[in-house]
Amino acid sequence: MAQKKISFYYKNICEDIIGSEHGISQSQLDDLAKKTGPAIEEVNRQRKAGIIPYRDLPYRKDYPKQVKEAARQIRGECENFVVLGIGGSALGNIALQTALNPYLYNIDSRQRKGPRLFVFDNVDPLQFGGFLDWIDGQLDKTIFNVISKSGQTAETAAQFLVIRQILMDRLGPEGYKQRIVATTNAGKGTMRAITSEAGFRSLEVPDGVGGRFSVLSPVGLLSAAVCGIDIDALLAGAAAMDKRVSETDFFANPAAVNAAIQRHYYQRGKRISVMMPYSYALKDLSDWYRQLWAESLGKRTDLDGRQVFVGPTPVKALGATDQHSQVQLYREGPNDKVFTFLQVDDFGRDVVMGDCPPSAPELGYLAGASMAKLLNAEKLATEYALVKDQRPCLTVLFDSICPETIGQFIYLYETTTSIAGLLLHINAYDQPAVELGKEATFALMGRPGYEQMADKIRPFTKQDSKFVI
Ligand code: PA5
Repeated sequence: MAQKKISFYYKNICEDIIGSEHGISQSQLDDLAKKTGPAIEEVNRQRKAGIIPYRDLPYRKDYPKQVKEAARQIRGECENFVVLGIGGSALGNIALQTALNPYLYNIDSRQRKGPRLFVFDNVDPLQFGGFLDWIDGQLDKTIFNVISKSGQTAETAAQFLVIRQILMDRLGPEGYKQRIVATTNAGKGTMRAITSEAGFRSLEVPDGVGGRFSVLSPVGLLSAAVCGIDIDALLAGAAAMDKRVSETDFFANPAAVNAAIQRHYYQRGKRISVMMPYSYALKDLSDWYRQLWAESLGKRTDLDGRQVFVGPTPVKALGATDQHSQVQLYREGPNDKVFTFLQVDDFGRDVVMGDCPPSAPELGYLAGASMAKLLNAEKLATEYALVKDQRPCLTVLFDSICPETIGQFIYLYETTTSIAGLLLHINAYDQPAVELGKEATFALMGRPGYEQMADKIRPFTKQDSKFVI
């Protein structure tokens, strides 16, 4: 059987479809091909030189082996698997679970191939407290996977300290250590030190792979494997996409074409990039993409140290739901967006509508039709309506939603981000602007060493009654 594929479709950005004011002509496309060629070569060179090790994750033999062994043990030891992490240490886990396990996975044990999965990526007392109430009698049937490359991230550290105390109190030092699996830096860092001291089982966050590029490492693979997702097929999908996104022929390389189009429109004032899946299963991949795109491409300085304040804004919308929320703006508001639809050819199942009541013959067109047909018709209809208003539209077409196509999608967007970073002439792999907020949190929470910063923060954060209405 031929491998299921994703395809990248870009006709609806062309000048002959949406007009010259907003479309791209063939000569402009040829020009993009010329200008993007060096970026493709450079990404390929960086990859060979080991500078962007995320590109090698589909080929690592050690990680899947370790993950499968850990998953085999964990599946026999728990009914609940709880991930504690944030940003790149959580969004990939959520995306894989939503994409590749049933909608009611946690609720319906008949649909479940493993323990329930919970991913906490916040420090909300109502949310976490409510969960603690529920999990209370089941701690001995629960494994917590704390994922933090550094171990210093305040949110993850906070969750960990809560859970650690509860487990120590309930299960004692021996029982407690059996209930935690750490995924963290191999040799250094706060979480590695805690792990060594406590004797937790652990997996590694690969060196040189930033959180948002780490979903195909043990960071994202463990919860997937524990919940019955075929991680070999996921990685095989990524490897299949690797061939396509390494292609030096621009027009055969979907990552290059995508990055070039996005960058081109950014320069023409379309600075918002909307991703709109017409599939609930793909909705959290859009959240994963938002982080990848925003943290990688939103930068103050370029590679020469010049201030550029660059970065397209990623926006997530869900079809058909957001047709009734956003599309009015998308069609009649400013033409400042590029749209990427995610469309699924074969959903693997369908739901057929019943007869319509005699009093409502106007619903007759729906009777006997299927939801898959309706959802895809709505995608085409929305695209048609946007194109009529000269809005540029791209589509990622999924043959079906399966580990192979999800692996392809992840790898496509990671490489698109690398190429877009080069086209924007910025470092796509750091996130210096996240630091100040993290440090200010340390200062406000009284972490030693941050006292001076706390004094500086006070004038901005102390409520001034003059401005309260
Ligand atoms: O993409 C990134 O690098 C970030 O989103 C990190 O993943 C996030 O800040 C969590 O960091 P850590 O894994 O060190 O706790």
